[in-house]
Amino acid sequence: MSSTAAPGTVQHEQTGPFPPGARFAAAAVADAGRYEAAGADRLAYWAEQARGTLSWDTDFGEVLDWSDAPFAKWFVGGQLNAAYNCVDRHVEAGHGERAALLFEGEPGDSRRITYAELAEEVARAANAFESLGVSKGDRVAIYMPMIPETVISMLACARIGALHSVVFGGFSSDALRSRADDAEAKLIITADGSYRRGKPSLLKPNVDEALAEPGHTVEHVLVVRRNGEDVSFTEGRDLWWHDVVPDRSAEHAYAAHDSEHPLFILYTSGTTGKPKGILHTTGGYLTQTAVTARDSFDLRPETDVYWCTADVGWITGHSYLVYGPLANGATQVIYEGTPDTPHKGRLWEMVAKYGVTQLYTAPTLIRTCMKWGREIPEEYDLSSLRVLGTVGEAINPEAWLWFREVIGASSGPGRPPKDEPAPIVDTWWQTETGGHMIAPMPGVTHTKPGSAQKPVPGIDIGIVDEMGEPVGRGESGFLVIKQPWPAMLRGIWRDPERYRDTYWSRFGTDLYFAGDGARYDEDGDIWILGRVDDVMNVSGHRLSTTEIESSLVAHEQVAEAAVVGAKDATTGEAVVAFVILNAESEQADPEAMEAQLREHVRADIGPIAKPRNVLVVPELPKTRSGKIMRRLLKNVANGDDVGDASTLSDPSVMIQIAEDMRTKHAE
Ligand code: WT7
Repeated sequence: MSSTAAPGTVQHEQTGPFPPGARFAAAAVADAGRYEAAGADRLAYWAEQARGTLSWDTDFGEVLDWSDAPFAKWFVGGQLNAAYNCVDRHVEAGHGERAALLFEGEPGDSRRITYAELAEEVARAANAFESLGVSKGDRVAIYMPMIPETVISMLACARIGALHSVVFGGFSSDALRSRADDAEAKLIITADGSYRRGKPSLLKPNVDEALAEPGHTVEHVLVVRRNGEDVSFTEGRDLWWHDVVPDRSAEHAYAAHDSEHPLFILYTSGTTGKPKGILHTTGGYLTQTAVTARDSFDLRPETDVYWCTADVGWITGHSYLVYGPLANGATQVIYEGTPDTPHKGRLWEMVAKYGVTQLYTAPTLIRTCMKWGREIPEEYDLSSLRVLGTVGEAINPEAWLWFREVIGASSGPGRPPKDEPAPIVDTWWQTETGGHMIAPMPGVTHTKPGSAQKPVPGIDIGIVDEMGEPVGRGESGFLVIKQPWPAMLRGIWRDPERYRDTYWSRFGTDLYFAGDGARYDEDGDIWILGRVDDVMNVSGHRLSTTEIESSLVAHEQVAEAAVVGAKDATTGEAVVAFVILNAESEQADPEAMEAQLREHVRADIGPIAKPRNVLVVPELPKTRSGKIMRRLLKNVANGDDVGDASTLSDPSVMIQIAEDMRTKHAE
């Protein structure tokens, strides 16, 4: 079992548990009653939450239909519209003037968009998409930077009942093409480009490249002008957003969709090469994201300014930047750029500028800020922050304690720290789970640095051994989900067999296999130990070893490749690749080859997949049956002892590889 941030590796003066602050607890949005209610009757709890949190056009009957397990139906027969729930109803309730989005562009431009304005924008976009032939059930690929039109497009799709498939703007044209093909997208929404570290970066040329070959299903490309760079247009296919959307009617009569109507597809990496199209539907997804956005972050829409730093290209952006916060009518910040542009205090400057109350971010970003030094955040007034959240990977206790002390306890420059630091909520969940599954509840539960604590109310989690038997306190095993949950994936797009195989075969259809290892401590609190499969976690992003291996092997000079995740102080894990060149390339300069192959993966998949190290090796360690021993390569990549190489067909191979790694890639 691999472990990215083993618990208990540091000893701090204060390592918790930290009880909730008394003032916070007294005023908290949620209370322990949630756990009691869910514990007493899980389905009744979810039904009450669904009715209490959302507006349904038609009430549902049965709460859960699991008769066709592992295919679930939640809130059976209910009808609702996700966009109406996220926008229009807040206007109807008199909150039209409240800011929905506080957009900040990387160059420093900003836009404040109220709920009333958002309602009009979404209606216009919905009308425009329909005029381009998009209707209920169609798929729309969204390949965009972090700008308001991205959120507007997602909501406009939801309003019509078209499925959006957001493709992270950092992905390559190949990645976009394969995702658009798999989903058979009719429309692609993109931008000319965006800004990255002070420079324009382009998106539209990648769309052109993705569509260069015939045989795709895309009829139109709708292009938002963001950075004004010159981009080429294909007559008849490409349209500017500003030519098509603004003069549409700001009224759009919505239809209510079935609770189980598909809301979106989002691709994520699995253990095999091909990304999986994770399918989410309307009623259950919206219920769980709305409830957890409220309870995990103590969200008060009237007064809070919430900020999730995730890109909308990932599930965190879907659930906790679009659907969860907006379903609650919250005000939130959306930021286009990177945290170090134009300076390393940008995040904290924005917290102070907007008076951010909740900051939801990734451990890798916290570690980066630690590296830059506490003097930087100490220059800013961070006193507005009430709740801090983390997601994507286990947070190491050092980073957790730094976050609490330097950010959560800050009252502003030169002032004594807060007596009640902002609680930290470490949230464990996945693209597949749709919403939070394990997380402390601020004001209610205690917290410990590095522990995700306990299942959220209404979620049934277990840790089991190889046989599927529960493990006890102080023991580790496989993380499983023991009961269906509202925001669960409904399947893999057009691949029901893969859905069963991936999640419901390890322990049968009784237990959902999450792919993570986990441990109960002596108090019964949960610690996530990292993936148990061939999935890497780089900066909180999921990458498949096989996918990167396939990319390397596709290079004409590569004969074989093995990829492992190595420990990395900032990104959690880093991609390390071992490659064998083919016979014709054996004379090539290994260093030049290594640089070229890193570039190749970057261009093929995207910058996040670019290996930290590529090592050209004469041989890969294999068992006598021919299986690559990744475990040994992982040890080498980590600079550890090679370990037991006795089952190798040729043990001398490892000695050579370890020696090369030490001399060439010593850090
Ligand atoms: C995998 C899911 C959930 C949105 C971001 C990633 C890891 C996620 C935590 C956490 C330890 C975590 C797991 C999980 N993970 N959150 N709080 N503590 N590990 O979504 O790309 O679907 O990846 O991320 O390994 O299985 P994803």
